[in-house]
Order: sequence, then structure tokens, then C-alpha cells
Amino acid sequence: MTGVRIRAAAHYLPSTVLDNHQISTWVDTTDEWIVKRTGVSERRISEGENTSDLCIQVGKQLLETSGINPEDIDMVLVATFTPDYGTPSVACLVQAELGATNAFAFDLSAACSGFVYGVSVAQKYLLTKQYKNILVIGADVLSKITDWSDRGSCILFGDGAGGVLLGADENALFAEKLYSRGDKVITGGFTKVVNPLTGMERGEYDFLKLDGREVFEFAVKEATANINEILEQTGMSIDDIDHIIPHQANGRIIEAIAKKLKTSLEKFYVNIQKYGNTSAASIPIALSEMFKNGTLKQGTGKKVILVGFGGGLTWGSVLLSI
Ligand code: COA
Repeated sequence: MTGVRIRAAAHYLPSTVLDNHQISTWVDTTDEWIVKRTGVSERRISEGENTSDLCIQVGKQLLETSGINPEDIDMVLVATFTPDYGTPSVACLVQAELGATNAFAFDLSAACSGFVYGVSVAQKYLLTKQYKNILVIGADVLSKITDWSDRGSCILFGDGAGGVLLGADENALFAEKLYSRGDKVITGGFTKVVNPLTGMERGEYDFLKLDGREVFEFAVKEATANINEILEQTGMSIDDIDHIIPHQANGRIIEAIAKKLKTSLEKFYVNIQKYGNTSAASIPIALSEMFKNGTLKQGTGKKVILVGFGGGLTWGSVLLSI
């Protein structure tokens, strides 16, 4: 199968750091509990920048590092479930700001699996050969839908964005397996039908809610099986894979996946301590950091598996060569 190449990777985080101590002044929790049960020490919180603002910063960096002209971008895809507006999409706002006048742009909603779904969608467009340069950005400003009075969830999340410029490459590896299973284990942003016939009472805003334990078990079981399916599909063993880049939901979820795969935790990129769970942004932020710190370098042929899981429920993995 024709693969995709990452031509550039970038990320952007709001500058304000919110640490566990600060949260423990708002809800009944401690830094020790949060670190031990989640691996998170601090996260970034937007003081007003919306999802499109973060994505635009990522888009600008992608243009700069790749040297590509904005007019040569064929498609802008943003994975998010916290858009600025219902319409225009975040992707359209990014397109306008970058001057990507020849692109078409749309958002994709698959919560924390959004970036993996986005890479899969981009690969299909690249296969047609009609589109050559595709921006895939994953971004969420979860702080705007977080219930800051719920200690079971507000400790987990952070805001951020990351993205890649993708192009086709016949010599690059590509394998994927995506899933969803409609379920309301994680919900957020419900919009009530309000019109003159129903009465105009809007009610309270619907914050992010989750059954943490159930999501934890789902994530470990399905992400492990998902990675094994990719290995089976490609005839590879876990030892053939250089890096696994998992969605950063909980450090203990990542440790449990490594243990079930009987492989070293070293193979997994983990940065949850700094950013918490940034939803669709977590995997591209990790990718971008890995390029910046020299763990990944274009043209080396390193094999990486990206694995996402989250609301929907959705989950999925893609295998890429770098
Ligand atoms: N501080 C202190 N105690 C807390 C707490 C907090 N922030 N949050 C929960 N607790 C308490 C609970 O009330 C419970 O107390 P009890 O035993 O007296 O009833 C106890 O800690 C254990 O709670 P539990 O929910 O079983 O903890 P856990 O080990 O499963 O950790 C999560 C909770 C949320 C950190 C964990 O389940 C998780 O990360 N789940 C997946 C996250 C997720 O859904 N991500 C979004 C989609 S990717």
C-alpha cells in the first residue's frame, strides 16, 4: 500500500502552566495522588486562545519548516471536538489565516483518536494522486469543556495542538486498523434542542464526563489488541517497531499496554507529565517533539505505530515509516 511521509511536524502549546498544586486548591486532591494515578504533573491551559489560534500557530510552523508555499497545500484537516464554532470549521479558519487558497478544508470529530483517523483519511486522498500536500492537525482546548469542580476528570486534561504535513511515498510503509463502538462512556458538549416550540430554556452547559475506570480498561484492552493486529497484518513482531506513540491519557494505561505486549516501556513515547491528556493533539505533539529532540529523523526508515483511543468510543492505529 502506498504510504505517507511526514514532511514536517510541529506543535504549539499555550504558555500558561497549570500544576497539580493549583488544582488541589480548587478540588479535593493532591499532587501525589494525581502523579501516582495518572502520571500528570502539569498541563498547559489557554488563557483565551481558542482551538483555531493553536492550529494556526502549528500551520505557520509547518509552512516554515517545510518551505512549502501556502498555495500548494491541497487539503487542511483538523481533528478536534472542541472547535471554536459549529461553522466555520477550525480547518477553514486555519486555511484562511495561512493563505492556503487552493486547499479544501474540514474538521473531523473522533475525540482522542482524531489524529490517527486524520492520517488515515489523508492517506486515502494522497492515494488518488490528485492531492499532494495535506496538513493534518490535531487540536483541542479541553479546558473550555472541563468540569473544574469534578476531581475525577479535571486533573487529566490540558490544551494543545500538533500537526504534520503529509505527502505520498510509494516506498513508505503504511498499515492501519480503525474502530469505533458507539457508547456514551465519555460525553461532552451536548447541545439541547431549543427553539420556540420546545421553550427557550437552555439549561446548564454540558461538560466533559467520563467513567474513568471503564475507559481505562477499554483503552488497555483495545489498544493492545489493535497494535497486535497491525503487527499481524504486516508480518512484523513488536521488536521490528522502533517507537510506539500512544495517545497520552494516563501513564498507567501506557505502562499496562507495554506490559501486555511484553515489550519495554522505552519503546513508548511518554510526555503526559508535562501536558496531561490533550486529546487529538497528544500524538502529533509527541511526533513533533521526537523530531525536534532527534529521536526521529526523516529518511531513516524507522517504523512507528501511532495508537489513539477515546470518546466515541473510537480507537485505531497506523504504522508509518519515517
Ligand atoms: N484525587 C483524589 N482522589 C480521587 C481523585 C482525585 N483527583 N479522583 C478520584 N479519586 C478517588 C475516588 O473518589 C475513589 O475513591 P473511593 O475509593 O473512596 O471511592 C478513588 O480515588 C479511586 O477512584 P478510581 O476512579 O477508581 O481511580 P482510578 O485509579 O481508576 O483513576 C482515573 C481515575 C480517572 C485517573 C483513571 O481511571 C483514568 O485515567 N481513566 C481514563 C481516563 C479517561 O477517561 N480519559 C479520557 C479518554 S482518553
